[in-house]
Amino acid sequence: MRRTRIIFLCCVLSITWGLALRAQNKTLIVTANKPVAKVQPTMWGLFFEDINFAADGGIYAELVKNRSFEFYKPLMGWKKFGEEYAGQFQIINGPNENNPRFLRIESPEGKELGLINEGFRGMGVTSGETYNFSVMARQDQGKSVLRIELLDSADAVIGAAEVKNFTGDWKKYEASFLCTKTDSRSRLRVVHSGTGVLEIDMVSLFPQHTWKNRPNGLRADLVQKLADLKPGFLRFPGGCIVEGHELATRYEWKKTVGDVNDRKLIVNRWNTEFPYRNAPDYFQSYGLGFYEYFLLAEDIGAEPLPIMNCGMACQYNSAELVPLTELDPYIQDILDLIEFANGDVTTQWGKLRADMGHPQPFNLKMVGVGNEQWGTQYTDRLNVFLNVLREKHPEIAFVGGSGPSSDGKDFDYLWGQMRQLNVPLVDEHYYKSPDWFLKNANRYDSYDRSGPKVFAGEYAAHDKEGKDAESRNTWKAALAEAAFMTGLERNADVVYMASYAPLFGNVDAWQWRPDLIWFDNLRSVATPNYYVQQLYATNKGTDVVPALLGGKVLEGQDSLYASAVIDAATSELIVKVANVSVVPATLTLVVNGRQPAAKEARLQVLAHADLAAYNTLDKPDVVVPTEKTAKLSGNKVILTFDKTSFTVVHIPLKK
Ligand code: AHR
Repeated sequence: MRRTRIIFLCCVLSITWGLALRAQNKTLIVTANKPVAKVQPTMWGLFFEDINFAADGGIYAELVKNRSFEFYKPLMGWKKFGEEYAGQFQIINGPNENNPRFLRIESPEGKELGLINEGFRGMGVTSGETYNFSVMARQDQGKSVLRIELLDSADAVIGAAEVKNFTGDWKKYEASFLCTKTDSRSRLRVVHSGTGVLEIDMVSLFPQHTWKNRPNGLRADLVQKLADLKPGFLRFPGGCIVEGHELATRYEWKKTVGDVNDRKLIVNRWNTEFPYRNAPDYFQSYGLGFYEYFLLAEDIGAEPLPIMNCGMACQYNSAELVPLTELDPYIQDILDLIEFANGDVTTQWGKLRADMGHPQPFNLKMVGVGNEQWGTQYTDRLNVFLNVLREKHPEIAFVGGSGPSSDGKDFDYLWGQMRQLNVPLVDEHYYKSPDWFLKNANRYDSYDRSGPKVFAGEYAAHDKEGKDAESRNTWKAALAEAAFMTGLERNADVVYMASYAPLFGNVDAWQWRPDLIWFDNLRSVATPNYYVQQLYATNKGTDVVPALLGGKVLEGQDSLYASAVIDAATSELIVKVANVSVVPATLTLVVNGRQPAAKEARLQVLAHADLAAYNTLDKPDVVVPTEKTAKLSGNKVILTFDKTSFTVVHIPLKK
C-alpha cells in the first residue's frame, strides 16, 4: 500500500510545477524523414464572440453607444444638454419595424438643446485623426442646425463640425472633422440650434482610419492583432451568443446583414449573465454582422466557421427548445446562409452578398450546428438538421458538439452519438486549471483515429484571479497551454482545429476572463497566451514528425513537453519544447533522417521566471518572445531551456 502511494506521489510530482527533477543532457531524437501526420491548414484558429464588449465597444469602431435609441432605455448612454422645458426631447416609435425609435428635438423658440453621448466607457480619439460623423435626420418644422462637438475629459472641444440644410425626408447627413487631442474618455456633443423641430436617428461617429480604411469599419489595431496570428479559421459569432438566453434573443444572422439602419438591435446575452459583472448597457447593434464576419475571415486569411443555432436556447439559462417538428425555419436559416456565402449572385441571398459589395463567393466550407448543447435534446435535433443539410450540401462539413464538459458521462454520450451521426468534426470545450492542461497533454494520444476529428473549439487555462483585468492571463496559464498544445500538434491526425477562447476583453467592461487580447478605447495588449498561440500558428509546419526521448514522446517527463513538425514548403524542422520546471533543462537534440542545412538553430523563446507574471496595457512587454541561436554540430544541437519557458527551435534542412 505504502509503495503504491510512493509511486503515485512520484508520478504526480513529475508533472507538477517546479518540483521535477532536472533533465540533464538527455537526447531528444527527431526523425525528420518520417512524417506521421499532416498538419491541417486550419489547425490554429480564432474563436470570436461578442462577449466582454468585443464587438460593440470593441472591434467595431463605432464610437457612439445606443446610436439608434433602441436600448431598453432609449436615452441610455445619452445625457441631455441645455435648458429644456418638458417635452422638447421626444422618443417617437415610428413605423420601421427593425429600427422604430428616433429622437425628436423641438426648439421652435431657437434655444440651444443637445445631447452628449458617453461612448463605450468614453470614446478613444487620437490627435491628428479625422472622424466621420453621420446622422439620419428629417426636418419637421423650421430650420435646424446641428453642431457636432467632440469633448475631451475636461469638456473642452477638441473637434467640431456642422450639419445643416435638412429636408423633410429622412436622409443621411455627414460631416468630418479633425481631432486635436488624444483622449481615451472623450464624448460627443450634438447641439441643436436654429429654430425648428428636427428628428434624428443613427447618430454615428467613426474614426476615418479603420482596418483597410473601410468606412464604418473595424478597429485597425485589433484586427491587426488577429491578422498577426495567421489564423487558419475564424469561428463566429460564438459561443453562447448563438443560443441566446432564450430563443427570442438567439443570434439570427439575417438580422445582421444589409443596410445597418435596418439591422434590428437586440440585447447582448452577456448583459446580465454575471451579477458581479453586470453590463446593462450591453447590446448588439449588429454593425459587425455576418457579412463583416465573412469579410474579416477573408481579410486575415482564415476559413470562416459560422456556428448556428439548432433550435435550442442556452441550457444554462432558459433551455427553451423548438419542437422537433418545427425546426424548418432554423434549418432554412443555414441553407440560406450557405447561399449568402457561396451562392450565385442571381440567387436571393447571393444577390444580397453582391449588393453589399462582395460578388465573389466567400467559399464557406464548414458550419457548426449548435454551440455548447448537451443531452438527447441536442442529438435529436442535430439528426433532423443533418438529414436535410447533408442532402442539400454534401460539400459542406457540418460540425457537431460535445457539450461544455471535457469528459464524463454527458461528454461520452455525445461523442458516441457524434460517431453514430458520422459528423466530420466534434467541437470540444474545456476551461480548466493550468494543472489540468499539463496532466492532459496526452489527452489525444489514445483517441480513436477512425471516427470524427477533433475541433478543440474553446479552451483556456484558468489561473487565479487578481485585481487587474488582465491578471488571469498569467504566464503559468499560458505555459500550461503551450505544454498541452504539444499534444494537439503531435496528434494532428485527429485534432484538426483548435481555438483559445474568448478572444477579446475590454478592460473597462469585461464579463469573462482570461481572454486572449485585452484592450481599452485606444490601446490593446497581447497576453502571454496570445504569444503562445502565435508561436504555434506561425510555426505550424505541414507534417508531424516523431520527437522521442528514450523512445517515448515527451509529455511531462522531467517537466518537459515536446512536439515536432517539418515545413515542406520552407524545408525546415520546427521543434516545440515547454519546460514547466523552475530549473533550466538541457537536452541534446538529434536530427535523424535529414541533414541540417545550417550551422545554427534559431530559437524563439517565451519565458518568465515568475509564473504569476502577466502583460497589461500599461506594461505590455512583461512576457514577450525573444530570439537566440544555438550552434549545430552536424545533426546535433545542445539546447538549454530556461526555467518555465516555451521554446520553438528552427533548423533548416537540406532538400
Ligand atoms: O467563451 C465563453 C463561453 O464559454 C462561450 O460563450 C460558451 O460557449 C462557453 O460556455
